[in-house]
Amino acid sequence: MNKFITAVKFLLPVVALGSFAIPTAAIIGKVGGWQFFFNQDFNISEKINAAQRIIGWLALLLAAYQIMLGSFRTLLEKLYGPGKILKIHMFTGPLVLGFVILHPLLYVFYESGINKDSIAKGLEIFIYSFNPTEKESVINFGRLAFYGLLITAGAAILRRKLAWRNVWKILHFLNYGIFIFLILHIRVGADANIWPFNAIAVIAVIFVAAGFLYRIFEKIKIIRLKKTAKIDSRRIAI
Ligand code: HEM
Ligand code: HEM
Repeated sequence: MNKFITAVKFLLPVVALGSFAIPTAAIIGKVGGWQFFFNQDFNISEKINAAQRIIGWLALLLAAYQIMLGSFRTLLEKLYGPGKILKIHMFTGPLVLGFVILHPLLYVFYESGINKDSIAKGLEIFIYSFNPTEKESVINFGRLAFYGLLITAGAAILRRKLAWRNVWKILHFLNYGIFIFLILHIRVGADANIWPFNAIAVIAVIFVAAGFLYRIFEKIKIIRLKKTAKIDSRRIAI
């Protein structure tokens, strides 16, 4: 049993870190290998587009793992030790945000390069479109997820401020809902419906949903325990 637990403890981070190589290698493969990035025949905008797609998939994976670290925290801390998973979660939070910001930012450079627009005009990509084309309406889900992640992560960073004490946890819980926006958004890309990207999306959805259910059952258990503790203390008082 001990050997099994040691193997699981070793394998979980190895599989998680290894999974980042899958979309990266798949997109590099699709554009014709890593030489593509050094090939003078392709212009800089095409290279930025490939990088933007890779960063998008890495941001999606990072967000999924971040949610799993949060939701399965108590379970994982039984494996790795108390406080360890929360420490990792708080360390990786800004990293997730970095990738979430870099992905649309690269699209700004791509768009500005293609349309010969100024960077300032390109930055309009961050603004929600109220009169969208079909493609724009799928990009809108990415924008909603982007705004949402800034709010939920911002609330977590500012959690020690008095006024935020209870509100931040409620806001942070919205991360599960934000993941739905992310899944709706990735259809905008050229890859979401093909292997291995469709498998990544399906597996991520299954684990995030499992994490959500796990947290709900955990909360129900805590409420029940509190109730029985109250009844017991009343009995003692009688
Ligand atoms: C940026 C810095 C971040 C900090 C400081 C932070 C902090 C925390 C803390 C302290 C908890 C534990 C709350 C508790 O158990 O009561 C938590 C839980 C959680 N975090 Fe974060 N987090 C950050 C970013 C993120 C991001 C970007 C995501 C999503 C992509 C995320 C998703 C979650 C989830 C799903 C939970 C579990 C919530 C629940 O079920 O109650 N966190 N986070
Ligand atoms: C302001 C917010 C966002 C904008 C403007 C945006 C824009 C775009 C665009 C234009 C594409 C299509 C790229 C192409 O195929 O050429 C795309 C694809 C994608 N985006 Fe976003 N996005 C945003 C937020 C996000 C966020 C927050 C994530 C993940 C955390 C994300 C993950 C992805 C993924 C995985 C793809 C698919 C790439 C592919 O299959 O080629 N996006 N995004």
